[in-house]
Amino acid sequence: MRLPVSVKVGLFSIAVMGGYSYFANSIPQIESRPPQELSLEGGNVTPAQLVKAGEEIFKTKGTCEICHRIGQKGTRAPDLAGVGGRAAKMKPGMSATQYLVESLVNPNATIVEGYPPIMPAVDKPPIALNRSELWALTAFLQSLGGTVEVALADIPATAGGESGAGGAATAVALPGDPKAGKAIFTGKGTCMACHKAGDVPGTPVGPDLSQIAQIQTPDYIMKKILDPKGMGTVANFPPGVMPQDFGTRLTAKEYTDLVAFLLTLK
Ligand code: HEC
Ligand code: HEC
Repeated sequence: MRLPVSVKVGLFSIAVMGGYSYFANSIPQIESRPPQELSLEGGNVTPAQLVKAGEEIFKTKGTCEICHRIGQKGTRAPDLAGVGGRAAKMKPGMSATQYLVESLVNPNATIVEGYPPIMPAVDKPPIALNRSELWALTAFLQSLGGTVEVALADIPATAGGESGAGGAATAVALPGDPKAGKAIFTGKGTCMACHKAGDVPGTPVGPDLSQIAQIQTPDYIMKKILDPKGMGTVANFPPGVMPQDFGTRLTAKEYTDLVAFLLTLK
């Protein structure tokens, strides 16, 4: 069974925190509300409701904010402010709706100039959005400077199809070279100054990461590197010690290689 990441993190920290309840007040609350599966098929929904649902998915289950900001230039991915307006002009012969849907389910079909091809197809694990969620998300993107006109019929019937059961969640193929990532771990990333990882010796300042891919999901691991505070603090470890600026210190390639290495730690 594949639990949503927030539930996993929640259960994990509850288990570890058992004997340390006196410590609990210093640990930031980790959201334990599981992301809901959104199903809108057949139901009546207004564009405003759709946009609101899409915004929620953008910020939670979609994990889009790992890479994208709205109204803020990122180094990793395009600023999505105004994307609803520019979408219609991105590809000759393609409507705004078609371009946005393609960006989500087949992100490598068009690579925005100046960015690396690291965006995952969001209807596949680990993100695995269903058709309704893709519909809502597209409506939200159109609301950013464009006209909300997407219909459920615009989302390919096959989208999100294979991911429904979630069985393939552990077999995610992310781009990235684990060997190069190991070198980042021991070198430029300075991770080893605080973490042990398999045959890489480290210090006990931070948790031993030797089994991290078994106890955490890829999206938690990806987020934790970029936003350690935002992901809560592992129980029995000091908050605020893990550096917050890896997102600006590592290149996108170094980051994806590092994640690929961490995903080998089982
Ligand atoms: C791992 C990083 C990553 C994640 C996660 C990610 N994206 Fe992207 N996205 C990118 C990059 C890099 C590009 C530019 C390269 C390309 O076109 O594939 C991009 C391009 C896009 C574009 C086209 C933008 C344009 O200006 O034409 C859209 C729309 C988009 N992403 C939406 C999303 C949404 C919605 C989510 C969450 C469901 C998401 N992305 C998650 C990295 C990411
Ligand atoms: C200065 C020490 C320090 C450095 C450097 C550091 N970390 Fe951490 N890290 C910590 C501490 C302390 C925690 C536990 C507290 C917390 O959750 O913030 C942690 C937590 C983590 C976790 C969560 C582990 C779990 O069981 O959920 C991951 C994953 C992680 N670090 C990865 C990395 C990676 C990858 C790097 C290098 C890019 C790195 N860290 C660099 C101190 C560090």
